Amino acid sequence: MAPSDSSPKAAALFLLFLPLLCSTIATPAVAQQLASSQAKALLRVRRLLGNPPALEPLRHVPDPCALPPTPTLTVACSGGQVTALSVLGDRDPSSALPSTFSSDALFTTLTRLPSLSRLSLVRLGMRGPLPGAKLRRLQALQVLNLTGNHLSGAVPADLARMYSLQSLVLSRNRLNGSVPSLAALQFLEELDLSHNALGPPAAFPEVGNAVERLVLAENNFTGKIPAWVGKLGQLRFMDVSGNKLQGWIPSAIFALPSLRHVDLSRNRLSGQLPPATACGGALAFVDVSSNLLTGARPACMRGNNSAAARTVLVAGNCFSDAGAERQRPSSYCAPGALAAVLPPPQGGGKGGEGKGKGGEVGMVLAVAGSVVGGALLIALVLVVVLRVVRKQHPEVSSVLPTSPAATPAKKPPVKATHKIIAPADKSKIPNPFA
Ligand SMILES: *[C@@H]1O[C@H](CO)[C@@H](O)[C@H](O)[C@H]1NC(C)=O
Ligand SMILES: *[C@@H]1O[C@H](CO)[C@@H](O)[C@H](O)[C@H]1NC(C)=O
Ligand SMILES: *[C@@H]1O[C@H](CO)[C@@H](O)[C@H](O)[C@H]1NC(C)=O
Ligand SMILES: *[C@@H]1O[C@H](CO)[C@@H](O)[C@H](O)[C@H]1NC(C)=O
Repeated sequence: MAPSDSSPKAAALFLLFLPLLCSTIATPAVAQQLASSQAKALLRVRRLLGNPPALEPLRHVPDPCALPPTPTLTVACSGGQVTALSVLGDRDPSSALPSTFSSDALFTTLTRLPSLSRLSLVRLGMRGPLPGAKLRRLQALQVLNLTGNHLSGAVPADLARMYSLQSLVLSRNRLNGSVPSLAALQFLEELDLSHNALGPPAAFPEVGNAVERLVLAENNFTGKIPAWVGKLGQLRFMDVSGNKLQGWIPSAIFALPSLRHVDLSRNRLSGQLPPATACGGALAFVDVSSNLLTGARPACMRGNNSAAARTVLVAGNCFSDAGAERQRPSSYCAPGALAAVLPPPQGGGKGGEGKGKGGEVGMVLAVAGSVVGGALLIALVLVVVLRVVRKQHPEVSSVLPTSPAATPAKKPPVKATHKIIAPADKSKIPNPFA
């Protein structure tokens, strides 16, 4: 039995190792070719970046994959292909490369490293727009970190189709304009767009459910914090401070199970936090300072909670409960209260800017006027309806409803809760004669 058994086994073993054998014979040559073409691409990257000191070591080795990693340069390879390139430059954020630098040429060269999964080009003075179409050709990219350069323009829509991305860090650049929806990036765990000039018209950018770290601080994002942020179950760290966000805070955010750090400070967030607002077990840091918040603080945000090891910063709002320190008078937050009720203004994010007395009074009068006007109009319509109906059917006058409840019920239910009838809405009041 033994001999008849062993020969198929040997054959199977041979077949199993055949590809391996072939590849070990073939690999050195192929890998060398790959390495030399990739080494050339890296040398070209160095030249396009104006020969920064961090890339100097590339000149002195034939195979960049053999370079030992340093704090300023890491080249990682697999099978002779560059899989990671991390360069930490020393350029001050204010000193850009000369205008001859072409971000398009740089990223075109980088597409010659098709296995690149991690790319960090930090503080190298890169300028110009992000070339979206070129970037998108780096389909293996999981980490893209371009912190501290001079990149400008919008965040290109092509980034929304780099489906492998786990970390997208474009902080401390000159990006302005809009951000595409990144909701399709199902592996995106980290989005850091902080310290740019994004928005308006950019509103809060959409992200997928995998996001753990969301940093939009120090931009010009306008509009509301969308309610879906309160459903990001993986969210651990959120910093949207220093923008122009307005309206209600979706209070479900504070209860997110993984959330540890949330900074909403220095915006125009307004309205009240519901008394039943809960804080998640992991929540250790809450900063809502310098907004337009009113009412009493929810119990889980009354001061620092040493038992829960939680720091809560609330200064510079209009919280009314005793113990809330360094609060502003309620008149300061009045424009914000209006922004929490009315839809955000179009085009300019000017919701909280009417800080002058005239602006405040004007807005109050406008809203009060539209409330009174709307109510008068409804009453007028009802009186006319009642008269007409009584004239035509004197017998039904006793069964007609005495309250105008039927009229508002015809409005869309979502808007009905937050919206005050504005003069523009007159046309929407159902015409009983139509
Ligand atoms: C981006 O790269 C810099 C320099 O390597 C590093 O200090 C920073 O932590 C990176 N940022 C992120 C968020 O990965
Ligand atoms: C972005 O900045 C450029 C140059 O400063 C400017 O021309 C452009 O209008 C800006 N875009 C937006 C949307 O603000
Ligand atoms: C935000 O926009 C204002 C003008 O609307 C501008 O003065 C300010 O510098 C911008 N801030 C940022 C961080 O881009
Ligand atoms: C909470 O702690 C922070 C710093 O840890 C401090 O600045 C703040 O004043 C404290 N607030 C209260 C109400 O004790």
